[in-house]
Amino acid sequence: MCGIFGYTGHKEAQNLIIQGLKQLEYRGYDSSGLAIQNGTHAICVEKTHGKIKNLEEILKKTPLKGRTAIGHTRWATHGIPSRENAHPHLDNHEQIAVVHNGIIENHFDLKETLESEGVRFRSETDTEVIVHLVAKYYKGNLENAVRRALKDLKGTYAVAVICSSEPGKIVAARMDSPLVVGIGKTENFLASDVSAFLEHTNRVIFLENQEIVSLTDNAVKITDIAGRAVSREPVKINWDPAQAKKGGFEHFMLKEIFEQPSILSAIYKERVNGLKVHFDELKITASKLKSIKRIVIIACGTAYHAGLVGKYIFEEFTKFPVWVDTSSEFRYRDPKVGKDTLVIAISQSGETADTLAGLREAKKKGALTISICNVLGSTIARESQGVIYTHAGPEIAVASTKAYTAQLMILYLMAIYFDQIFKTLSLGQSRVLLKALSHVPALMQEVLDMYKKEEKEWAANAHDFNVRYHEGLERYFSADPAGRKRSPNGFFLYLGRNINYPNALEGALKLKEISYIPAEGYPAGEMKHGPIALIDENPWVICIAPKSKTYDKMFSNIQEIKARNGIIVPIVTRGDTQIHKVKPLYVVEIPEVEEIFSPLVTILPLQLIAYCIAKEFGEDIDQPRNLAKSVTVE
Ligand code: G6P
Repeated sequence: MCGIFGYTGHKEAQNLIIQGLKQLEYRGYDSSGLAIQNGTHAICVEKTHGKIKNLEEILKKTPLKGRTAIGHTRWATHGIPSRENAHPHLDNHEQIAVVHNGIIENHFDLKETLESEGVRFRSETDTEVIVHLVAKYYKGNLENAVRRALKDLKGTYAVAVICSSEPGKIVAARMDSPLVVGIGKTENFLASDVSAFLEHTNRVIFLENQEIVSLTDNAVKITDIAGRAVSREPVKINWDPAQAKKGGFEHFMLKEIFEQPSILSAIYKERVNGLKVHFDELKITASKLKSIKRIVIIACGTAYHAGLVGKYIFEEFTKFPVWVDTSSEFRYRDPKVGKDTLVIAISQSGETADTLAGLREAKKKGALTISICNVLGSTIARESQGVIYTHAGPEIAVASTKAYTAQLMILYLMAIYFDQIFKTLSLGQSRVLLKALSHVPALMQEVLDMYKKEEKEWAANAHDFNVRYHEGLERYFSADPAGRKRSPNGFFLYLGRNINYPNALEGALKLKEISYIPAEGYPAGEMKHGPIALIDENPWVICIAPKSKTYDKMFSNIQEIKARNGIIVPIVTRGDTQIHKVKPLYVVEIPEVEEIFSPLVTILPLQLIAYCIAKEFGEDIDQPRNLAKSVTVE
């Protein structure tokens, strides 16, 4: 939700800000802007509606000079996406500029007071109060003015401020929204996420809540809200900047889908040594883990689906009962968690507001907390008692793919790790499991190779769907001769059973997210209790039916669909001849894989189906409408 980027140093800032914002565009893309100190003690602002390329076009025609600047890419919360509401915001004397990520909850009261003091507001945003407060308290020291202004604010913020009277300086602060400082040579950076400045430096300092940082080209000074100096050494981030680039792929989503086998293989190699699992960064002892009696997993979106798979994994490999909850529901119930509960928070970004709130709630109730995060140093990672990083590299496409399978890989390894501690399975059994898991990335690669070979057919199938979809819409709006409206074609049903049921949800989510086509994921056994009413010759039914102990049941469900003229697209194990009896539209074959690990393989065609359909429909695959990668507001 909104990305912030700041630069102060020896280079011209404009293009650095644009490049940095592009890396952060996944956080929001309805408008963008930058404020630059041009060295003549003035601040110039350019901002515009729409994507960053719009801002880039304007700046190409009328470049802004200056070596200190702050920029912003917005995901609207207060006020429509428009030039007026885009950041940066200026005070009435145009001396101070502010960019902000978060929500100022008491902005109405603050606005009223400021207006009564003669301040003129120019936008509908909550952010604008910040710049007027900083201006109100400015008495020649920007850092002090920001510190004073923060005391009036309620809510969440990552905020960056520049002032025309203090050239070369950026003052920034955070409260529950991410902010990272990048340390360069005679230049320093500031961003919502490390990947934005990774090309320039990998030495970073993560700001903590209620800290204020003052940056110049050669100094980084951190203080707390009371003005006390904070000393913190930079940490080195080992992400490869190339991972944040498309690397020849048409979209980040496709690139990230294709990265999955190598990421999973690297995770395995990192975590398994001599057929023993280890999590070095997990600072929770085995004796502490021995006090737990049950596991609760909390997460949102795709990470929630990973949690659902986690339930099957933990229940199969360990002795613990497992509950899974969406974070937003968990936190507003009165969940019965306590000292004997392990709460696992799963979050790619490590910043999702609801998951963070759920984690805090669990800690308050005395539970032991472990997070599974991708973004190093993120808030959820830092606030949980133990963290396991997925090390999947920056995930740029809004629709999550590689983070999901990386989360699953960690869950498998975690369950085997627990199993090694609690000795639920024999050593031999857990070794067999680990061996089988080590082969999965190669099986995933086979699916991707098959896609590459059959890419044209996949595109043709997506085109076929597109044609039927539009014919269906026409039929719907013109009605048939009897005057009845027929249901349009544009509907997908995803069915799965047992450990592949969460993938049905995830497959449907992927399609919804990037192609805006209605899609529903269901446990196949539940089809009879509702979704079967929707089946006629129109919707496509994606059936996840690899070889498994529930295959026969799944096949019966598929026949029930066939009996109602449904269009069947099954995902089956290579060599399944039986499936052809139901005359599927087309069959996706995957290599044989142990049932317990099959979600890692069956998810790939589901991701690719969503990708191909969105591409056929000409949608903005990496940045779908209304969504943001990191949801830092509730
Ligand atoms: C948003 C993103 C999803 C993501 C979810 C949870 O909705 O668009 O892709 O799965 O947030 O994000 P997290 O960072 O907590 O995994």
